[in-house]
Amino acid sequence: MCGIVGYIGTRSAQDVLMSGLAKLEYRGYDSAGVAIMDGQGIQVRKKAGKLANLSSELEGAPLPGTLGIGHTRWATHGLPNDTNAHPHATEDGRLVIIHNGIIENYLTLKASLVARGHVFKSETDSEVLAHLIEEKYEQTLVGGQVGKLSEAVRLALGEVRGAYGIVVTHVDHREIVAARTVSPLVMGVGQGEMFLASDVPALLPYTRQMVFLHDGDLVVLSDDGFSITDLAGNAVTREIDQIDWDAEAAEKGGYDTYMLKEIFEQPVALTNTLMGRLHDETGEVNLDIGLDPGSFKRISIIACGTAYYAGLVGEYLIEQLARIPVEVDVASEYRYRNPLVSGDTLAIVISQSGETIDTLEALREAKRGGARTLGVINAKGSSMTRELDDTLYIHAGPEIGVASTKAYTSMVGAMLMLALWLARARGTQSEAQARELLHAARALPRLVEEALAPERVERIKQVAEKYAHARDYLFLGRGVNAPTALEGALKLKEISYIHAEGYAAGEMKHGPIALIDAQLPVVVVATESRLLEKTISNVQEVRARAGKVILLLSDGDTENAQHADDVIYVPRSHEMVSPIVNVVALQLLSYFTATALGKDVDKPRNLAKSVTVE
Ligand code: M6R
Repeated sequence: MCGIVGYIGTRSAQDVLMSGLAKLEYRGYDSAGVAIMDGQGIQVRKKAGKLANLSSELEGAPLPGTLGIGHTRWATHGLPNDTNAHPHATEDGRLVIIHNGIIENYLTLKASLVARGHVFKSETDSEVLAHLIEEKYEQTLVGGQVGKLSEAVRLALGEVRGAYGIVVTHVDHREIVAARTVSPLVMGVGQGEMFLASDVPALLPYTRQMVFLHDGDLVVLSDDGFSITDLAGNAVTREIDQIDWDAEAAEKGGYDTYMLKEIFEQPVALTNTLMGRLHDETGEVNLDIGLDPGSFKRISIIACGTAYYAGLVGEYLIEQLARIPVEVDVASEYRYRNPLVSGDTLAIVISQSGETIDTLEALREAKRGGARTLGVINAKGSSMTRELDDTLYIHAGPEIGVASTKAYTSMVGAMLMLALWLARARGTQSEAQARELLHAARALPRLVEEALAPERVERIKQVAEKYAHARDYLFLGRGVNAPTALEGALKLKEISYIHAEGYAAGEMKHGPIALIDAQLPVVVVATESRLLEKTISNVQEVRARAGKVILLLSDGDTENAQHADDVIYVPRSHEMVSPIVNVVALQLLSYFTATALGKDVDKPRNLAKSVTVE
């Protein structure tokens, strides 16, 4: 997550960029920078740290000019310092770019650019774009005239693999060229002025006429307007939307609640989690972790709440794929149970906020015992990250809704990557198995997008409304999806206040079966798996006691649909990655149950987003 702003028109570009960046600071605040075109060329100012640092610098020496681009950074490649801050300029300073996203093949591109004489200043993946576009621009120069900037951007993007929202400007042109794939960009249309931003709130003070750019769009902004093409150069038409949102609605991206917005952000959040880390052509898993994956004999996973359930999925994945013994603890218990820890233990703490006091204290306990420590964390610079040996950031972006959604799927994505990383180091998977899993993991953003298709969402809403007045709910799942059932139950409790229990399906007969009667909805995760037949036997046990069965089935499974009162179909996925796809349906089921009951899903009673008391 980073924030981008662009402006061309008659106002002070500095004012527009700085006010827009202030609205986007939630997307990252490792550094900020602007590039503004004046009569002499393009002036770049950038500073590590919060936007206030850049503000103070500009206060002393404001930049004149009416065309500019600005950035607030959440670092992925390279330390958050002045040099790695955006914008990035070519050596002659004539071309300047800003990039949000991750260029997966940047090392290969960088090596060939360096071999051709380019000199890099930063450690970022983004800087390759400046040099690559510069080269392409030179190819578009005919007889010493000015080149075609949009063509150069298009040609460069043809060589890039990854996610990007980019904005580019060049001294020869009074225009801004922008393009996106995965990373969001919205264009604001004014009278004789044009705007760009990563999110709507940055533009609301200036215009309500907006164009939401699609993946693969390339746009040229000038004082007179804009033109859009695809990456093959074909003209594209996009509607201009009139945005009537107030400031609060704008922050929710037009969704009714942060929770719903965050549920729908999952494909992008997952892309950011996985991007640049899994390489299915080579089988490599590059997590940028200094710890030696071959040096642990056991793993201890520690977390709270939803993060704990991500840990349970992690346990399953690591034991299955990397064959290392794993134990998972609720942090508040770990701390006081005098755990057996040694130097060959890897303690993995999982936390969205990085501030949960139970998890933080458990981390300290693990360190006291001599464990090496790794965090799976969302919030940069949080307390845990300062005490961990290493951190694997999940890059899910800010999560405002108290009920965790996108952080959960990104945490499970991170645990999957860790399992693959450990498996590779320990040689526990054949080349073919590893490739299959990497392929399945990389398909996740697309599958989650599919899980959020309007007709599926509508179906889940119908089911939620049908059972919204139930007093209790039971959630069942097996194997890698047993934690999915636990998370489904927690989500429902948190936001609808309906009592819900989550159980491993095979455990139901050992007690919870006593709860079943004709009033009890039982949600069973019964997607394709080697344990599906056993799960269906448990479904029969529910039916025999007149329970209401809501089955989560893989697309096309009509045979098992006969055992259900209601079916929710989800996209087919590899069993090992299925918890990420399946949980989306349960998030929506909770969401629509809570809204049917008129509950405030973003601020459920008695809960806090970050729990910093024991
Ligand atoms: O910030 P953390 O991930 O450490 O938070 C842990 C739990 O407090 C959190 O997951 C909580 O259970 C959420 N409300 C779940 O939706």
